[in-house]
Amino acid sequence: MDELTELDRLRLLERVKDPDTIAFLESLPLRDAWRCLEIGAGAGSVAYWLATRCLEGHVVAADIDTRHLDPRRVSNLDVQEVDINSHHFAPSSFELVHTRAVLCHVPAREEVIARAFEWLTPGGWLVVEDVYTLPVGSSPYPA
Ligand SMILES: C[S@@+](CC[C@H](N)C(=O)[O-])C[C@H]1O[C@@H](n2cnc3c(N)ncnc32)[C@H](O)[C@@H]1O
Repeated sequence: MDELTELDRLRLLERVKDPDTIAFLESLPLRDAWRCLEIGAGAGSVAYWLATRCLEGHVVAADIDTRHLDPRRVSNLDVQEVDINSHHFAPSSFELVHTRAVLCHVPAREEVIARAFEWLTPGGWLVVEDVYTLPVGSSPYPA
């Protein structure tokens, strides 16, 4: 079998996780004019979805590696190459900040989360999805 590429890996993650992510985002009081930040946008599916959903607002798709993001895909999409460890957005820039499977790669994640709160407008939403390893070894239940 051929080796999976980074893009294959990102697309696989999207295929598995997008239905739950989008169902959750749809449960928020999303408005057409919302400004959204997608941290670690990967291959872009969530950023594209948000940009299409919030057509009167805009979406910043931020990633340290933007090779797999197409800035022309949706007109209100802004692709930015940033390292979230050191990048700052202006306070109160976004109604929604979303990130999925990114903070596990960022040792200073608590600090990034604290700054992400500042980038939100009052009442804005910070949605963080990440991996959670169940402590199988210490579980009283069979595997
Ligand atoms: C496992 S992928 C998840 C991609 C996407 N969020 C998803 O769930 O489909 C992790 C992404 O985070 C990005 N990333 C890792 N460290 C980063 C950093 N310090 N700043 C910005 N992006 C980062 C990677 O380039 C990659 O695109």
